[in-house]
Amino acid sequence: MNPLWALRPWEAPEVTSWGRIPMNAVDRRTGALKLDGDWRFQLLPTPDAAVTDVWSTSYVPGAWTLQDTDDLPQYTNTRMPFPEFPPSSPTANPTGVYEREVDVPAEWAGRRIVLQVGAAESVLLVQVDGRPVGISKDSHLAAEFDLTDVVRPGSSATLRLTVVKWSDASHIEDQDQWWHGGITRSVLLYATDPLYLADVTVRARAGGALRVDCQVRDAHGALPDGWYVTGDLDGECLAQDAEFDRVNAEDERVSDFLGEARMRAVVPDVRTWTAETPGLYGLTVRLHRADGTVADTSRHRIGFRDVEIVGRDLLVNGERIYVRGVNRHDFHPLTGRTVSYDDMRADLVLLKRFGFNAIRTAHYPNDPALYDLADELGFYVVDEADIESHDHAHEIADDPRYLNAFVDRVSRMVLRDKNHPSVIIWSLGNESDYGANHDAAAGWVRRHDPTRPIQYEGAAKTGWADPDVASDIACPMYAPIEDCVAHALSGEQTKPLIQCEYSHAMGNSNGTLADHWAAIESTPGLQGGFIWEFWDHGILQRVTDGRPAGRSGAGLYDKGVAAPGHRWAYGGDFGEKIHDGAFVADGIVFPDRTPKPVMYEHREIAAPVRLTCFRHEGLVVENHQCFRGLDWLSARWELALSDGRTLTAPAALPDLIPGETAAVPLPFELPDDGGEAWVTLRVTTKDDEPWGPRGTEVCAPQLRLRAAAAPRNAVVPGPPVVVDTEGLLVHPLLTAAPTLSLWRAPTDNDELGGIALRWRSWGLDALVRKVVSVRQDHGRVAVHAEYAGTIGVVRHVQVFTPVEGGVRVEESAELPEDFEDVARVGTVFETVPGLDLLEWFGQGPWESYPDRSSGAPVGHHSVSVDDLFTPYLRPQESGGRHGVRHFTLSAPDATGLAVRLDEPRQVSVTRYRAEDLTAAAHHDELVPRPGCVVHIDAAHRGLGTASCGPDTSASYLIPPGVHRWNWTLRAL
Ligand code: GAL
Ligand code: MG
Repeated sequence: MNPLWALRPWEAPEVTSWGRIPMNAVDRRTGALKLDGDWRFQLLPTPDAAVTDVWSTSYVPGAWTLQDTDDLPQYTNTRMPFPEFPPSSPTANPTGVYEREVDVPAEWAGRRIVLQVGAAESVLLVQVDGRPVGISKDSHLAAEFDLTDVVRPGSSATLRLTVVKWSDASHIEDQDQWWHGGITRSVLLYATDPLYLADVTVRARAGGALRVDCQVRDAHGALPDGWYVTGDLDGECLAQDAEFDRVNAEDERVSDFLGEARMRAVVPDVRTWTAETPGLYGLTVRLHRADGTVADTSRHRIGFRDVEIVGRDLLVNGERIYVRGVNRHDFHPLTGRTVSYDDMRADLVLLKRFGFNAIRTAHYPNDPALYDLADELGFYVVDEADIESHDHAHEIADDPRYLNAFVDRVSRMVLRDKNHPSVIIWSLGNESDYGANHDAAAGWVRRHDPTRPIQYEGAAKTGWADPDVASDIACPMYAPIEDCVAHALSGEQTKPLIQCEYSHAMGNSNGTLADHWAAIESTPGLQGGFIWEFWDHGILQRVTDGRPAGRSGAGLYDKGVAAPGHRWAYGGDFGEKIHDGAFVADGIVFPDRTPKPVMYEHREIAAPVRLTCFRHEGLVVENHQCFRGLDWLSARWELALSDGRTLTAPAALPDLIPGETAAVPLPFELPDDGGEAWVTLRVTTKDDEPWGPRGTEVCAPQLRLRAAAAPRNAVVPGPPVVVDTEGLLVHPLLTAAPTLSLWRAPTDNDELGGIALRWRSWGLDALVRKVVSVRQDHGRVAVHAEYAGTIGVVRHVQVFTPVEGGVRVEESAELPEDFEDVARVGTVFETVPGLDLLEWFGQGPWESYPDRSSGAPVGHHSVSVDDLFTPYLRPQESGGRHGVRHFTLSAPDATGLAVRLDEPRQVSVTRYRAEDLTAAAHHDELVPRPGCVVHIDAAHRGLGTASCGPDTSASYLIPPGVHRWNWTLRAL
């Protein structure tokens, strides 16, 4: 039997690898043979099944689950997809066999030849020409194997990579995401001189001190005499560390065989690295033979920075930073966990444009290029090891059979990523309980890399302040704001509090994000957190045959919506029996990276420039960054007036260091009509930035200069109001009369938080209307109706008064005590077709809700009705606009209707009734109605984040009792 199989490595957690080269930070991509492309492929039902003569092809890198095999993606959150206990795996165990020939270049004769497999999930078995070469686990890190003795330069070799999908390792790769199988990152073959750089470790401090440790090896064993290393930093030679050489020479335990060399430098006037100022230097390390010729070279882009914890503050270069983070998976809607450089760059560019400065690589080491990009564009990275044993967390954390795997995964990540300035914290993994295996891994890191803190959420079993555990940071997930503040004020806090996950972005969500940040920025000890999460992991699926579109789906989506005949699949859509539904769609971007409205909310919360107050006719401007001045920004003033005008004026940003404020004069005269006035500072990039061209909007802080005066009541009467026998308004522009609405299509938060269940049990989704009385008086009509639910009746009164050109509607609704928390209280009506443009004065232009309205400035906005709607994967309440004062809905010929509200209200205009949205499971099932469905809400419940984490705060709930609201409807 093949020895690789004899070990049955897929059921042996102790076996983490065999024949694998130690992980290192030497980048071998340049000059390597790229073995990406079509490989011969067959999918076996079990790892023991015989390979047949029947081959298809599979594209590498890629997941076979997305490449037209019968093994389709499956989504589970915490559950394992099979019942076997660790370390066992199921008998039915899809096993992909990849094979191809490689022509080994003749000029590689005499060189050391290495195969690198970028990532394979979950067990990789390597053979060359039938000979066993190696084994690797750890699905999201590369595995390298020395092929020098098994291939012949100048001839061809057959590479066979067998990938077993389920294994003991699956139990520690139980992250909340799709299960796939395949070789998901590139495969390379490269050659080095027998004398080579085995690793390079860089330590570059903010003060300019640089230390470069090199490990040198020789393929033949003993190192040849006379080798030496040199290095240069942007062309400046580095000095050898003579002290290190001397000590090593004197230390009897250190033999030449260790092959260690160290260089040092102190860089004067160093440009330090921070996420705001990601200055990098080019470091080249050369390994020389005794005759001076170069045997090996390693190139690095390095950054000088310090990270330390002082008291309960996390400091970068001595400054307390805010962590405006997001959790990011490697994800693509066509290729799964295979992501291209361009795609990763686009992810980071987008995040940068929306004010994010940090990424947690949830929940495994990401593609290597991600870290290069984070260094270059400026992100703080929490680098997370590929360990999540969610379903069997308790069994595994202390299981000695998994000890090796824990230490292996954490140490390999550190060895790979240690030279990235962006990486400021190591994470031991996610949701794996807390046990000795974690402590062992943490111990390894503390010795190997004392320059960075460690975090692990699960370590806080005995509280966030426990000093003795593996986590240097208190990094809870989904902790309520009050709990974080209470901890920071308790006097017990010992560590920085930075939530590893918060503000769950499933569907229409992220309510109270601004409240989180108000608390963070005003409470010493709180430093931010990582929103869960970046992506909605919808896989593009053909509706016809239910198969993933795969690479042929390129371009079959736009603005967050899949092309006709396609949809974004979530859990269950591939016929999975065990799955967790739409919980996989919980990102701040759609599967095609279209930003969701919360991104704008975040951008404003993260604004580098703030307007703090208006006093003595001056505005106070603040530099809210940690390291940068304002000189990289341009700005202009905008004044929005309730009379319909928007005035603009150039703005000169004051010269402010971080944290400084200055008063600047208001460049406008306010009209003396007593109307509302809002000033906005529109801030853009002054020059091209690596993440956005000159003129990219950065933030738009806003202040109210004057509140609205009390409305004038000079009403000119109009023609009498007409109602039908049911007391329903008859109006030529309306196809459905204004009625009371207490229902919204449940958001994911409403559903998973159990809120919608309550609403349904009260009958709010099917209130029965009964007219009680209709009184007419001089063209004025008062209608009293009752809306009956299952546990109570809402008394609703509408008084219609004719006014010039239309009708004024005064409404009240009296909610019984039992309706203690409803979705909305307001009016709903439907319009004739053709009114396709909404123009309004209020918050916008993007979607906003009462507890997610900080990023939508008040102004005059204009958006087509179709673009108002946000196409959340599972249809739900969507498209609302907060703080609307008045609006028009018009046809291209400028006919239509105008509505004026008594005070700023939540309004939504869509093509869908709440019941349409409630009934659909996917966006493609929605059939737009020809007219518009308009909601005007006296009150609208906050969104919160109850699908995973806290619900909205009490102040965004709708109390029972009497609600009153008035509005006027006129024809244009
Ligand atoms: C956390 C977990 C994430 C994800 C999230 C909910 O508990 O760490 O992986 O499952 O909840 O979407
Ligand atoms: Mg989990």
